[in-house]
Amino acid sequence: MLASMDSLDLVSPCLFKYQNKNFLVKDKLRPADLDALQHFEIHPTDIFLVTYPKSGTAWMQQILVQIMDAANPDWAEDATNRTTVPWLEERTMDNPSRERPDPRIFGSHLPPNMLPLGVKAKQIKVVYVWRNPKDILVSFYHFAHSWVLLDIPQSFEDFFQQFLDGNVYMGSWFDHVQEYQNARDQLNIHFVQYENMLKDLRGEVVKLCAFLERDLTDEVIDHVVETSTFKSMKTNPKANYKDLVETGRYRTETMRKGKAGDWKNFFTVAQNEHFDNVFKEKMSNLPLTCIWEIK
Ligand code: A3P
Repeated sequence: MLASMDSLDLVSPCLFKYQNKNFLVKDKLRPADLDALQHFEIHPTDIFLVTYPKSGTAWMQQILVQIMDAANPDWAEDATNRTTVPWLEERTMDNPSRERPDPRIFGSHLPPNMLPLGVKAKQIKVVYVWRNPKDILVSFYHFAHSWVLLDIPQSFEDFFQQFLDGNVYMGSWFDHVQEYQNARDQLNIHFVQYENMLKDLRGEVVKLCAFLERDLTDEVIDHVVETSTFKSMKTNPKANYKDLVETGRYRTETMRKGKAGDWKNFFTVAQNEHFDNVFKEKMSNLPLTCIWEIK
């Protein structure tokens, strides 16, 4: 199955480009496997959680697992969120963890044109989480030091430019967000902004329940919210990816700060101005309102 290294379009020692997105050289998936994912069989009740990296994936995993928990008495009690919400493009097609009772939840960073065809054809529910790209950049910079499959950045300045150029894992943030915005009429998609979850987690959970057609009592919604705060997830081994630290795949914890605005501790004034200019240039047609303060 593995394509030889020669046939890969390498972007860096750790990344290869395919369909304008960057994938991991050390991961199992090669272009043919990514193509094969298009034919992965979708059930009408499947739910897809899609994000650009560092946008709040683990957070939404926890929320979705808690919301759907009542409907899944067969879910293994000791399963972590990673096993309950398997990652579409990280595993091979025949991974038995996918053979689970409906409704199933999958995670993915793939763009809309690389998702299984059934996602659109069956109009299954897609939850897309997005976040202030400046905070994503900072979170990603730290993550690149943590995840052993990524290149460790030479410096923050270098990573800053790589991010703007889309030369990071999964490619350009700008493209990813726009591709999902442009696909909004073709997919059954619910957009959630990380910063809105920070401001009003309960409100966002209630909106999600409406989208997922889950009629939860106030008490259960309170429970979802309580178990999904940064503080409670940080100490929950089902939610905090600690197993990846323990097995050496992450060098540090992924539950880092969980805040909005950490970019202010890293960007210089000049970097911030440069970022704002690139944002304005690339995202002028963005139909959604961003609540962060890009001027
Ligand atoms: P920081 O590095 O800024 O702390 P992903 O899961 O997509 O990789 O995103 C990781 C980011 O989401 C990290 O951001 C992490 O701390 C943050 N995060 C995870 N759970 C969270 C929660 N319950 N509340 C707020 N942020 C959370």
